[in-house]
Amino acid sequence: MGINMSLSIIILAAGQGTRMYSDKPKVLHTLAGRPLLKHVYQTASALSHRGIHIVYGYGGEQVPETFPEFQVSWVEQKEQLGTGHAVQCTFSDIPDVDDVLILYGDVPLITQETLTTLVEAANDTGFSLLTAYLDNPKGYGRIIRDENDNVVSIIEEKDANEEQRNIREVNTGFMVVNGKKLKNWVNSLKNENKQNEYYLTDIVELAGNDGVKATPVIVESTIEVQGINTRSQLAESERYFQLVQAHHLMHNGVGIIDPARFDLRGELEIGRDNEIDINVVIEGRVKLGNNVTIGSNCYLKDTIISDNVHVLPNTMIDNAVIGNGCRIGPFARIRPETTLSENVHIGNFVELKKTDIGKESKVNHLSYLGDSHVGTGTNIGAGTITCNYDGANKHQTIIGDDVFVGSDVQLIAPVKVDNGATIAAGTTVTKDVAENELSISRSDQKSIPKWKRPVKK
Ligand code: UD1
Ligand code: CA
Repeated sequence: MGINMSLSIIILAAGQGTRMYSDKPKVLHTLAGRPLLKHVYQTASALSHRGIHIVYGYGGEQVPETFPEFQVSWVEQKEQLGTGHAVQCTFSDIPDVDDVLILYGDVPLITQETLTTLVEAANDTGFSLLTAYLDNPKGYGRIIRDENDNVVSIIEEKDANEEQRNIREVNTGFMVVNGKKLKNWVNSLKNENKQNEYYLTDIVELAGNDGVKATPVIVESTIEVQGINTRSQLAESERYFQLVQAHHLMHNGVGIIDPARFDLRGELEIGRDNEIDINVVIEGRVKLGNNVTIGSNCYLKDTIISDNVHVLPNTMIDNAVIGNGCRIGPFARIRPETTLSENVHIGNFVELKKTDIGKESKVNHLSYLGDSHVGTGTNIGAGTITCNYDGANKHQTIIGDDVFVGSDVQLIAPVKVDNGATIAAGTTVTKDVAENELSISRSDQKSIPKWKRPVKK
């Protein structure tokens, strides 16, 4: 990469985000499951740099405490006196010789490529500026150019006259400035403007007074510089980001029925011939083997799915390992710490928690198995429930190989059903069942002949 190690990066993240109408600092709102600030941090980290400095303020320690993994220096801006003041807060940490790249915690879609271009553009004069042409420039600072097309100043919308407001070239906020120059200019900023803030943007004019021209770089893809100020903008950026991810996956061979109805909030590792139907949400880290199909309306989180697995519609799988050839759903719920071996069938309205199930076993209808172990080739009948909780503690149910559990069975844990055992329908299992035994607990059926049903009065 053409970037040298003498680049320092500042991320501004002290603002409240008034227009989100939220108690949460704006940079903690999430895009594709990740806080906005994390997107920016990850992009910054990918650039070769000397250090990253994040300016935080609104929400106090909540922001740094959310990201213990960040390798940055956190700089508190106690009062939000403007973008210039925010940058100034970091100065004791910034070497004069460095180039300084300024990023925004609430502009998450900026790419490494654009930033690399911007950093390189600063090589000429020690100052480069990212601008964009917008059809609707409302809310942004406008770029003022002279008759030779040089950028001479930036005027904030609130301070602009009508003619200036018609300018479509806007300040994206991203800039690269030589450290020493940045300090000089920022230290002489004044807050004589409509908002009584120290505007970072005023350094363009100060640079001009010193004979330094800011080199403008015009960004083509304006979504990259979209700031998140409102929940609508957040949703718009989310959709854009999701489409980019979906197309990237399709490009690598995943069949996605409708990229507009696909949501990945984390990382998806793919195999060959994966097919994903509509309205699937994937969170955390999910890995798919080869020939896996995911039906419509499924939710998968932190899960490993092996080859030839079919997840049928409306199924939730959280923190599980699914073996080759399993069929799950429709309407199944697989909860954390569940492991299915090969060719297991889990059917509708079945809930599994902290349960492992051996090869070829089936739990096809309306069951709850929690804290259990099921062997191979076992059939669990409809409506079977493990009573794993006594109101205070959780207990284990162990079911062996080749067991047949009839319908509507309750297994009162802790209990063990050995290999080859048969449990009759309707049985409440309170004692261990030995190998090849039949266990039945059922009151005798009474029959009353010629029964007269009551009639309506
Ligand atoms: C700023 C620019 C404007 C540009 C726009 C692009 C200035 C004066 N204006 O305006 O030219 O078009 O961004 O999105 O720079 N922040 C702090 N501390 C502060 C103030 C702000 O950390 O005291 C942070 C905010 O959290 C935010 C960023 O700086 O991440 C920008 O601040 P904001 O108030 O949103 O500036 P804009 O009015 O959008
Ligand atoms: Ca903004």
